Amino acid sequence: MPLVTSKKILERAAQDHFAVGAFNANCMEQVQAIVEAAQEEHAPVILQVSQGAIRYAGLPYAAGLVKIAASTVDVPVVLHLDHGTDYNQNVRCLHAGFTSLMFDGSKLSFEDNVAITKKICEIAHLVDIPVEAELGRVAQSDDKLTPEQVEGLMTDPDQAVEFIRLTGADSLAVACGSVHAMRSQDAELDIARIKAVHEKVHIPLVLHGSSGVKPSSIEEALQYGMAKINVATYLNEAFVEGIKEGLAKHPDSVDPRHSLTIARDRVKERVREKIRLFKSNGRISAGGGFVDAPKQFRSAHLGGTEE
Ligand code: G3H
Ligand code: ZN
Repeated sequence: MPLVTSKKILERAAQDHFAVGAFNANCMEQVQAIVEAAQEEHAPVILQVSQGAIRYAGLPYAAGLVKIAASTVDVPVVLHLDHGTDYNQNVRCLHAGFTSLMFDGSKLSFEDNVAITKKICEIAHLVDIPVEAELGRVAQSDDKLTPEQVEGLMTDPDQAVEFIRLTGADSLAVACGSVHAMRSQDAELDIARIKAVHEKVHIPLVLHGSSGVKPSSIEEALQYGMAKINVATYLNEAFVEGIKEGLAKHPDSVDPRHSLTIARDRVKERVREKIRLFKSNGRISAGGGFVDAPKQFRSAHLGGTEE
C-alpha cells in the first residue's frame, strides 16, 4: 500500500499499549528485511532513515527504496526522518515524500529547540505530516557518561508540557535512561519519569537507543504511552555478522549476494523479535486496517474501504 503517516498509528499504539517499531535502514537489503518482517508479523512499521543514511544512499534512493518497499506489502509503512538536526533537512525530506519528520534540537537551548521545532511543525502540518521532537537528550555510548550524567540529561515532565504547548509537536522523544548505540541490553528505563511525562503530555512518546535497553523495561514502558521504539544498532550488528558469516562460508566467492542474503535474513529475524517484544504483531488485518479498528478509522487513515 502507499506510505501512511505516523499520526494515527502512534495514537492507536499509545491507546492500545503497544509500540510501533521504528527500524533504521541504510541499504536495500535492510529495507527489504524490515518490510518483510512487518508483513509476516502483520504489524505496522516505521522505516526510518538518519542523516547519515541519507548522505550514504542519497535522498532519492533513501525515499525511493522505502516507497517501493511499502508498495509490495499490505501493512502500513511510514517513511520517517530520524534525528533531523536542522530546518532545511526536514524541508528537503518533506519535499521528497517523507510521511513523518523529526527535529532533534536536544543539543540546543530550550528556546532554540522550541523555535525550530515550531517552525518545522508549521510547515509540515500544512500538508498533514506529523513531527517528532526531542526534549532532554539521549546520549551516545561514545560519550561515556556516568549514570548521574545520563540522569542529568533526562526529560523534565513539567518542561515537556510547556514544550509541547509551544511547539505543537505530534510525538515526543523522551530521554529516560537509554543510551544510543549500546551493544548489550542492560539499561533500565526510568519508568516513573515516563509515567509522569505520559500523564502530563497527551501525545505518543518515543524511545531512542532501544538496542541497549532490557526487554523487561521496554515491556513496562508500553503501559505508559511509549508508542514508537527506535532500533538501529541491534540490526546493524546482525547485518555485519551476517556478512562475515557469508564470507566465511563462501571464502572463494566474488558474488556479494552470498553474504548479503545471509545478512538480510539475520536482520529480518531481529526485526521480528523486536516487533513481538513491542506487541505490534498481529495488529493489522489482511485488508491493511487495524484488527478490530473502527471502520471509520480504517477508511480515513489506512486506506480501507468505506462501509
Ligand atoms: O534514532 C535511532 C535510535 O535511537 C537507535 O538507537 O542504535 O541504540 O538502537 P540504537
Ligand atoms: Zn535516536
